[in-house]
Amino acid sequence: MSRIRSVVRGCGQALPRRVMSNAELSAIVETSDEWIRQRSGIERRHIADETETTSVLGTAAARAALASAGMVPADIDLIVCATSTPDYTFPATATQIQNALDMHHGAAFDVQAVCSGFVYALTVADKFLISGSTRSALVIGAETFSRILDWKDRGTCVLFGDGAAAVVLTAEQGAGTNADRGILHTHIRSDGRYRDKLYVDGGAGSNGQVGHLRMEGREVFKHAVINLADTVEATLAATGLKGSDIDWFVPHQANKRIIDATAHKLGVPESRVVYTVQDHGNTSAASIPLALARAVGDGRIQPGQLVLVEAMGGGFTWGSALIRW
Ligand code: UT7
Repeated sequence: MSRIRSVVRGCGQALPRRVMSNAELSAIVETSDEWIRQRSGIERRHIADETETTSVLGTAAARAALASAGMVPADIDLIVCATSTPDYTFPATATQIQNALDMHHGAAFDVQAVCSGFVYALTVADKFLISGSTRSALVIGAETFSRILDWKDRGTCVLFGDGAAAVVLTAEQGAGTNADRGILHTHIRSDGRYRDKLYVDGGAGSNGQVGHLRMEGREVFKHAVINLADTVEATLAATGLKGSDIDWFVPHQANKRIIDATAHKLGVPESRVVYTVQDHGNTSAASIPLALARAVGDGRIQPGQLVLVEAMGGGFTWGSALIRW
């Protein structure tokens, strides 16, 4: 039975100019390049300066995605921006990006699901497109986690970085089969019981502070491996596809060991996994679209190929999506 599909038309990225190495971090906290590489796979990350806010990076990523799609802001009906580090408590970063694009029609709003934010935003945009109410959407992941890091806490400050990336989706008629181009399935989950494992100790509605990121890394790691396997299984089961059908596995880039464990469970070899964690660290909601932009940019992801994305983050939130590129 024919149905509307959300097809990826383009993607683009924007990274802060400054690159910070592990060696630089070892001058700030008691750590070493060796520890960071071994435990996380991270070698460097980009850190935003004061002019490179989340909306500035998000706008640059949106422009790059539009250019790669051969489209202009007038072609877009909806902007969904995934971020946990908005420029301001309000207005939404998405409306700031909308204005920076000189776009004064349609609707723009933020989605907040921390590291799962891009999967959530993709899911929300997909629902708009397949309902027939929206023709095209910009889905952006944009973060400046460096602003909420406690630079004295070696357990967290070595792990995160800043950046933004975006995809353009358009609604297309499909045949309703797995051979269709576009988003074939999305699956999102959350469980608020685990709030204390990964959170920010401030907020407009509590202490009026921006706060700092706090994490029980080992606990998050354990849950990530279980929850990511569950969501990936749910998505594959819903489509009847198998791990061996996946051309590219593009996971959230938090830790190379988590990525490797999930890929192993899926039966996807390392050669079909896209890694950017070594260069970007954990950029939260930006990490998946940044990895997509890299693998599309260097020619690995080709139209018609099957791409699986997944993420897990604070909340806890987690989810996955299967996309025929
Ligand atoms: O994006 C979604 C959310 N985030 C994640 O998915 C991250 C999940 N967690 C992780 O990636 C890992 O748990 C970490 C990379 C955070 C840590 O790796 P680990 O193998 O779980 O290490 P650990 O937390 O068990 O710590 C091992 C040791 C500790 O010392 P003791 O207690 O064994 O003496 C830490 O104090 O390493 C110490 N340590 C460090 N040493 C050097 C913690 N941070 C550092 C550091 N440099 N930066």
